[in-house]
Amino acid sequence: MESALLLPSLLLVAAYPRGGSPQQEWMQSPPAPSVTSAPFWVRLNPELEAVPPGGSAWLNCSHNCPLPVHSSLRTQLRQGKIVNGSGWVSYQLLDVRAWNSKVRCVVTCAGETREATARITAYKRPRSVILEPPVLVGHKYTLRCYVTHVFPVGFLVVSLRRGGRVIYHESLERFTGSDLANVTLTYVMRAGLNDLWQPLTCHARLNLDGLVVRSSSAPVMLTVLALSPASIALASTSIATLVGILLAVGAVYVRKYLAVQT
Ligand SMILES: *[C@@H]1O[C@H](CO)[C@@H](O)[C@H](O)[C@H]1NC(C)=O
Ligand SMILES: *[C@@H]1O[C@H](CO)[C@@H](O)[C@H](O)[C@H]1NC(C)=O
Ligand SMILES: *[C@@H]1O[C@H](CO)[C@@H](O)[C@H](O)[C@H]1NC(C)=O
Repeated sequence: MESALLLPSLLLVAAYPRGGSPQQEWMQSPPAPSVTSAPFWVRLNPELEAVPPGGSAWLNCSHNCPLPVHSSLRTQLRQGKIVNGSGWVSYQLLDVRAWNSKVRCVVTCAGETREATARITAYKRPRSVILEPPVLVGHKYTLRCYVTHVFPVGFLVVSLRRGGRVIYHESLERFTGSDLANVTLTYVMRAGLNDLWQPLTCHARLNLDGLVVRSSSAPVMLTVLALSPASIALASTSIATLVGILLAVGAVYVRKYLAVQT
């Protein structure tokens, strides 16, 4: 009962993908193709695939053409094996290194050509995010956060939080390297009484066009012991006096990493 009721509205959505009220269009103008010939469609699955840098992926291009078709995959990625069945072809894509690669599958059925697209993204979640205990030098604390083995570094944002609130963040978009990287963030701050016993944490976030990957460090504390009487006398809000990002990039590690993967 229910599925019989649902079917017409689903068909309508497919026939009128955009705009207007499908109900009204149904009343005014029923779909042109006869009920027996479904509209020709092409799908490429999955639409978004994530792989480690240098990894490979399989994409399945399927269609509903009852006739023998010509189908091809258009991409800048290197193609590997192909497996096919009736109504589908599965393509292997090799050595995905770009953080974002577009793939199109083009199928021609009885003179009509349609295509479907998919995206493959290569990324590597940081192996570790480590915030060192603050080091007191004079009246200032030096915080160091290490983010190791991350890719693509150009889409990384590293932030420091105190008591859950962001006190500093830096985007590394100026770095366009195509290798795994280590990032060290150094932050120097003054601390006052308010900062005592507040957990400090370091956060790494990759934002890959909708795919967000987050990692964070274990918390560290500013303790009474580290706080000198002189710094209590200083402003109770922290002031950044020097900030730096250090980036180490290792092509060697991409290879090592891949060796571990396979
Ligand atoms: C490809 O997709 C078709 C249709 O969804 C499915 O029947 C087939 O098993 C899939 N092939 C592979 C290799 O996943
Ligand atoms: C798979 O592809 C081959 C070569 O193009 C073709 O001869 C064969 O009919 C295809 N198999 C199926 C089940 O479509
Ligand atoms: C990155 O950090 C890891 C772990 O701390 C270290 O073993 C490796 O040598 C570093 N790689 C580079 C390129 O600095």
